[in-house]
Amino acid sequence: MQARLAPAPETGILTFLSVSLNVTASHPMEDQIQSLNVSALEAIRSCTDESQIEAERVRLLGRGGELTAFSERMRELSKEEKPRIGKVLNEVRTAVTAALEERKGALVSEREARAFRNVDVSLPGMAFPSGAMHPITQLLDRTVQIFRRMGFCLADGPDIETEWHCFDALNTPADHPARNEADTFYLPDGRLLRTHTSTIQIRTLEQMAPPVRIIAPGAAYRRDEVDATHLAQFNQMEGLYVDEDVTLGDLRGTLEFFFRELFGKDAEFRFRPHFFPFTEPSFEVDIKAAALGGGRWLEIAGCGMVDPAVFEAVNARRGERVLDPERHTGFAFGFGLDRLAMILSGVPDIRHFTDGDQRFLSQF
Ligand code: PHE
Repeated sequence: MQARLAPAPETGILTFLSVSLNVTASHPMEDQIQSLNVSALEAIRSCTDESQIEAERVRLLGRGGELTAFSERMRELSKEEKPRIGKVLNEVRTAVTAALEERKGALVSEREARAFRNVDVSLPGMAFPSGAMHPITQLLDRTVQIFRRMGFCLADGPDIETEWHCFDALNTPADHPARNEADTFYLPDGRLLRTHTSTIQIRTLEQMAPPVRIIAPGAAYRRDEVDATHLAQFNQMEGLYVDEDVTLGDLRGTLEFFFRELFGKDAEFRFRPHFFPFTEPSFEVDIKAAALGGGRWLEIAGCGMVDPAVFEAVNARRGERVLDPERHTGFAFGFGLDRLAMILSGVPDIRHFTDGDQRFLSQF
């Protein structure tokens, strides 16, 4: 009988020792175990994939496995033989288990090496296209940030509105052109798509008491012929500040600060008297700035001091005098984001904003 070294060195030594100590008293079962050891290690070495390894494991160590069978036969042995041959069986089982593990590990790394053989890690990686914010969203975010720094908070209101919120409460008489069927999208039930975000002035004053300081971005809808500078749906930014002692100076200071933050310190302003039903006095704001192409005046906003008729409409609706025209004053403003984004981003046609064309959008 020949002592064999199993693959794992420590078990190999044990096998050698146990065998050499017992050269005189060999038992047929011990020989059978040793020869199974030899054939098992040989079979494991010649496995060429992981499923063969698994088959070997089951054949040798499984419930009906060949080595397992020897454990059951231990009871055939005498008291003197049992510990010695039991030890040999244990060592062989350990050696076979280690050989299975080792061969399996080698096969896994071979398989992985094969998978990577044709991969050139020096090639440039795949570029994943990254998204970007829509130019109007970018402008909106900057706008909100600037007003937040001045203590304005965000307010909201529905796109589908009542005539009262859109017109009556805003002191806009029944014969005002904005209320015309040809200018406004009416729903069959008499509600409408808001023609401006000034509705949120009313929505806010219905809920809050002064001091009120809000901005409200949102969509507005008009029956405009769609062309390079008009869409039937566009984006507005509304502002409202109501408190005691709010003055026209506050309005000018707020808007000039805001637009200078956005377009640069060089911006110049013109407040031209205008008419809005819900502000008195009312103005249109013109701006001239290098960032906006310099040279020419651009009309960018409507604004004014809140008309006391607006306060009274809200008081009547609330059934309490939260707004006292003797005590409270306020200013309101509104401007469109689309046209500003067009100028800032050099976009020649407003329709690009809503086309959803990747080639356009990926430029920002
Ligand atoms: N709502 C007005 C418009 O859409 C703008 C505006 C808002 C004017 C607030 C004055 C005060 O044209």
